[in-house]
Amino acid sequence: MQQVAASTAFIGSALPLRRAPSNRAGRLPRASLVCRAQKQDGQTGGKRLVASSAATLDAPVEEGYQSVWTASYDFDNESPELTKSWKKTMKVAVTGAAGQISNHLLFMLASGEVFGRDQPIQLQLLGSERSREALEGVAMELEDSLYPLLREVQLGIDPRQVFEGADWALLIGAKPRGPGMERKDLLDINGQIFAEQGRALNDVASRDCKMLVVGNPCNTNALIGMANAPDLPKRNWHALTRLDENRAKCQLALKSGKFYTSVTNMTIWGNHSTTQVPDFVNAKIGGKRVPAVVKDVQWLKEEFTPKVANRGGALIKKWGRSSAASTAVSIADHLRSLYTPTPPGDCFSTGVYTEGNPYGVDEDLIFSMPCRSDGDGDYEIIDDFVIDDWLQAKIKETEEELLKERDCVGHLIPGATRAVCMITEDTMLPGEA
Ligand code: LMR
Repeated sequence: MQQVAASTAFIGSALPLRRAPSNRAGRLPRASLVCRAQKQDGQTGGKRLVASSAATLDAPVEEGYQSVWTASYDFDNESPELTKSWKKTMKVAVTGAAGQISNHLLFMLASGEVFGRDQPIQLQLLGSERSREALEGVAMELEDSLYPLLREVQLGIDPRQVFEGADWALLIGAKPRGPGMERKDLLDINGQIFAEQGRALNDVASRDCKMLVVGNPCNTNALIGMANAPDLPKRNWHALTRLDENRAKCQLALKSGKFYTSVTNMTIWGNHSTTQVPDFVNAKIGGKRVPAVVKDVQWLKEEFTPKVANRGGALIKKWGRSSAASTAVSIADHLRSLYTPTPPGDCFSTGVYTEGNPYGVDEDLIFSMPCRSDGDGDYEIIDDFVIDDWLQAKIKETEEELLKERDCVGHLIPGATRAVCMITEDTMLPGEA
């Protein structure tokens, strides 16, 4: 494998840089970051400080404060035995990189437990002007964790720079709904972010880049991103519903008294919202259909279903903030499912583009469906799920919600024929219940 330079670099900024106090309690003064890189140089001989990246910024940097730093290394000292079986480095862009979800996820990615122990990665982290200090803190912790597979970290606040060459874009950053904000305002504010990110990905990402949208409302944000990235394959867009699948498996395991590994073929249909449909009709426990094991259809319809759909809200009440660790775990699960052959008779849930779907769902939505993979990063929609009347009615309900969301963001979808917002307060994210 070709040896690549590892570095941590703040890439580009059109925004003015703020001066940081050089000795704020609990923080390293900037200069020590640079010193650390120089010290490494002395220790190994094979690592060298290439440049402080102040020179790469548009904005002036005040003396005594390196707002940006770059430490680049070569890998001359590294044993070829270690790297000879490694794959080509994968570039993984992550937005909302200084947030809580990323704080769990990035370390899983860097450790190799997600993409594999032979898959070196380069992390390209997008923050905001407000979070740039925190982002540097994240990079410091990543460096201090000494992950051999983590070959490079780049930090930035401009998606057009951060997404350059990305093979995966994990789009986590989005605004949470604030007090007094209507749902259509949230759709608009976050939709604008995803329209911009879609355009940026279209311009600079790898032509086979895959995207996973986590920021809510994730299905419609994915639709907006996709519509603004016409040169990228539409099937490469995903919206995260694996968290809901995991929640459903947990509830079925608790109810049946079986461990959650015995729950298979569990899918979520539709929107990552309170209209989502956790499908107990096709799910199995120990190889048997769930209703045959749980034997309480009323519980399945009236307790299990809303419990899964409202789990995010219940969690916010306990934590005072949205789920973070379990969301990160579900992102890792989602990615692993695409790089592991799906066992026969099993599936995983992901929100995907509905064009050509076998279930008669409107063909221009991002809708969660049962999928399987050969382990090559791609997927197919499983076409033989049984849809009974109850499931059909529930799927219709979540589809209608997504159609309304799509109409509401028509102004952000190039070529949309409808841009009318009929969203009412009764359509909610899991966290709003
Ligand atoms: C979750 O499902 O935990 C989150 O999507 C909740 C939210 O609204 O942030």
